[in-house]
Amino acid sequence: MVEIKLTDDQEMFRKMISDIAKKEFSERAKEIDKTHRFPHENVEILRDCGVMGLTIPEEWGGAGMDYTCYSIAVEEISKICASTGTIFSAHLSLCTVPIEHFGNDEQKEKFLRPLATGVKLGAFALSEPGNGSDAAGMHTHAVEDGDFYVLNGSKAWITNGAVADTYLVLAQTNYELKHKGVTAFIIEKGAEGMSFGKPEDKLGIRASSTTQIHFDNCKVPKSQILGKIGDGFKIAMMTLDVGRIGMASQAIGIAKAAFEDSIKYAQQRETFGQKISEFQAIQFKLADMMVDIEAARLLTYQAISKHDRGEKFTRESASAKLFASESAMKHTVEAVQIHGGYGYTTEYNVERYMRDAKITEIYEGTSEIQRIVIAKELLKEYGL
Ligand code: CAA
Repeated sequence: MVEIKLTDDQEMFRKMISDIAKKEFSERAKEIDKTHRFPHENVEILRDCGVMGLTIPEEWGGAGMDYTCYSIAVEEISKICASTGTIFSAHLSLCTVPIEHFGNDEQKEKFLRPLATGVKLGAFALSEPGNGSDAAGMHTHAVEDGDFYVLNGSKAWITNGAVADTYLVLAQTNYELKHKGVTAFIIEKGAEGMSFGKPEDKLGIRASSTTQIHFDNCKVPKSQILGKIGDGFKIAMMTLDVGRIGMASQAIGIAKAAFEDSIKYAQQRETFGQKISEFQAIQFKLADMMVDIEAARLLTYQAISKHDRGEKFTRESASAKLFASESAMKHTVEAVQIHGGYGYTTEYNVERYMRDAKITEIYEGTSEIQRIVIAKELLKEYGL
């Protein structure tokens, strides 16, 4: 029998994180979206609640909670403020988790502990100005020099860009080996030769910081190589498997916010002498929203369940991200439609949800990349 029921602890955690997000983030969400201001105070609140290292074992300063709670946290935070959901998810799943999985004890003490306790903020630098989807085609390279590697090149679209303290950076150490020549480095802000581009002026998640990072003869000690030389591509792909659970959860949170605002508005707004919730045209939209939100949650929990059993969950996390992000986009557009002209103004939040939803179809692998990942896995599963 398959039972999809959260435990009492998970339900309690959902209530706790939802209460925090509503109380602490909702007032600020509109303002920081408008002004493009990075919400340092939101990060501090999450740190004070012990959430920044949610899934990291307690021995390394984390909360030792499960990935269902991770999904719940990203969903509930993103429901109120998608920018904060992005900051949190990138920090935890794309930088902190890979150091937990692939770091040695010395690296964990030095880099993981401050990330897990939230003293430091993390970022993940894979994409480049000239290649995002073709991750292995990177141009940033690292050349051995005694006890160091010297990095040159530029990274792009980096969430937490200039505001992070610790960066997981992928660089090519042997072009001839293609993806097998990619190596992962842990680099701290302040490293000589590392600089940042201007913040990107984005359509959505406007309060999160997105910048380029430049490396100009940046010397990184060999002790800061994560895993082994040439392990970087697999580390990046396995990291994205986890990250995509977070992105699916973020899309669910945004879609849920759009649904809740829409059902409330539909029961207040009247036209042709009745509430618009009494028209089937509106009811069908609301019904479709909730069906897709629940389906997206089931796909996400399926991916988490495989992850927790130690099974490969590449296809499942890509499926969850694909479905959740495309349905969030569809339903946030519908939420604007339900709100009519008002929905097109900043008086209501639905236009922000629509702008925020779009990025979930793009970052951590576009929808097209998710379909490629799913198809590749299917061809392996059904291979002759
Ligand atoms: N887990 C473990 N290993 C994996 C893997 C996974 N999920 N996916 C691939 N691999 C392994 C393969 O098994 C293969 O191994 P072998 O060499 O031993 O056979 C190797 O990696 C190469 O795999 P592919 O041949 O499939 O590689 P590819 O070059 O064809 O690329 C791709 C595959 C799926 C398109 C990949 O490039 C990809 O995911 N691209 C999208 C990148 C992406 O999501 N970028 C987002 C950036 S992060 C971000 O957005 C966050 C932010 O801060 C904004």
